[in-house]
Amino acid sequence: MTDRKGLILAGGTGSRLWPITQGISKQLMPIYDKPMIYYPLSVLMLAGIRDIGIITTPADQAQFQNLLGDGSQWGLSITWLVQPKPEGLAQAYLVGEAFLDGAPSAMVLGDNIFFGHGLPEMLAAADAKPDGGTVFGYRVSDPERYGVVGMDADGKVTQIIEKPAVPPSPYAVTGLYFLDGTAPARARSITPSARGELEITALLETYLADGSLTVERMGRGYAWLDTGTHGSLLDAGNFVRTLQSRQGMQTGCPEEVAYLQGWIDDAALLDLADRYEKTEYGAYLRGLQGTRGM
Ligand code: G1P
Repeated sequence: MTDRKGLILAGGTGSRLWPITQGISKQLMPIYDKPMIYYPLSVLMLAGIRDIGIITTPADQAQFQNLLGDGSQWGLSITWLVQPKPEGLAQAYLVGEAFLDGAPSAMVLGDNIFFGHGLPEMLAAADAKPDGGTVFGYRVSDPERYGVVGMDADGKVTQIIEKPAVPPSPYAVTGLYFLDGTAPARARSITPSARGELEITALLETYLADGSLTVERMGRGYAWLDTGTHGSLLDAGNFVRTLQSRQGMQTGCPEEVAYLQGWIDDAALLDLADRYEKTEYGAYLRGLQGTRGM
């Protein structure tokens, strides 16, 4: 584990999901039984990251604070940051510059949902690299909707392009970025794209130009779910429901990760379980007691 800090970008207008996101932030929408942001937050926690900056719009911040507080209930330290206007994903590094204070970071988009056996190991490998950047490639049927990586025969990144008309590969760049401490300075050096945004791909290109960008492929045993349309939002919820009811295990459960990481003890876990007394979620948390290390 390094001194890597986490960033969650949970800003934006959510306009593609209107009217449901007109009165509430997209990243607070339910994915079956939990708010969307629980899933990316749990990914950072699985990576061993406890110092996390959460970026929201000014208007939405209070609602996120109601939900997550200062993070101490899960052994985290949450710093609340504001993005006044959504002007690109790379802007997260400018908003988060003082918070990061030179530390390497893992940035995750507040609407990205990852699931896969081996995810903690993949995250640990990315975390172990102090310099350069690591992104995660995932094969999709519609790469033109995403940032896409081109790779050579050895899997080395040769190209990274935002929403290409002709994708160089079927591998989309997921919304999880492990970058070294130079990311904010690099973000300052890029210029807005034609759509007026500081593109994350432009920032990643600076790493590519230095020969310090690595892509890790998430294979077919992973799920990287989209929540960008009403249909895919429902699909993601159904996926989580199917998996959880079949296995009797949660995915994206911050309390569970905190407990398994040893950041909260049995008493704290039971205290959290009591809050959800009336739900299956509460019963699940209660049942986790004594499972650490199993
Ligand atoms: C953004 C990034 C894109 C990335 C995607 C992942 O796209 O610009 O590179 O593949 O997130 O979710 P957007 O959601 O802004 O269209």
